[in-house]
Amino acid sequence: MTWRATVLTIFPELFPGPLGTSLAGKALAAGIWSCEAVDIREFGEGRHRSVDDTPAGGGPGMVMRADVLARAVDSVAKPSDSRPKLLMSPRGKPLEQARVRALAAGEGVIVLAARFEGVDERLIEARALEEVSIGDYVLSGGEIAAYALIDACVRLLPGVMGKEASGAEESFEAGLLEYPQFTRPQEFEGRPIPEVLLSGDHKRIRAWRQAEAERLTRERRPDLWARRKGDGPKSE
Ligand code: ADE
Repeated sequence: MTWRATVLTIFPELFPGPLGTSLAGKALAAGIWSCEAVDIREFGEGRHRSVDDTPAGGGPGMVMRADVLARAVDSVAKPSDSRPKLLMSPRGKPLEQARVRALAAGEGVIVLAARFEGVDERLIEARALEEVSIGDYVLSGGEIAAYALIDACVRLLPGVMGKEASGAEESFEAGLLEYPQFTRPQEFEGRPIPEVLLSGDHKRIRAWRQAEAERLTRERRPDLWARRKGDGPKSE
């Protein structure tokens, strides 16, 4: 079955965009997944097909209208459609590899990529949208966040990557960063490849990689380190 990504956006021309090249692009051409962009403006109000208005209570920026977005969402999310409806938002739950894996195992995603200052809260409630963040920073719109989410899912679909895929995200799901990698030349600008990696001693190599993964995680991601699997209570 084809994994289906449907993106609701006022910039449908941005899709598939970068997802049309490289691994994801090959998989798209092979029919492993599909990418449909729906133009929210087609559901806009009046002659100008307007999709936003000023915020109730005042303040800067514009807010996307609940009625317009509801029409757009309803045009794709039929009752028989079991795909989750996601709203890319810096206010959402941070996206993690475990959620990516669950999404990739399903039938696909419906993603609302909003622009402007936000979305009328009643739409989020009425259509039970799940808000998803790709990090603690603010993008100018949800489209780039949608690229990130869809790319992370697509690379996990059967037939998209070889078996080299699984290692990195398994280590991520186990709560560790990846260990450092090296390839030829044996010496680069005076820096040799760590001796252990050339030893052929697979037990030592495994131990070195594990120790390096732990060191990097401790140094760079104390948050991950603190809630690593099998290491006491996880933060929620
Ligand atoms: N839209 C704007 N910023 C975002 C973020 N950090 N994550 C997801 N969607 C966004």
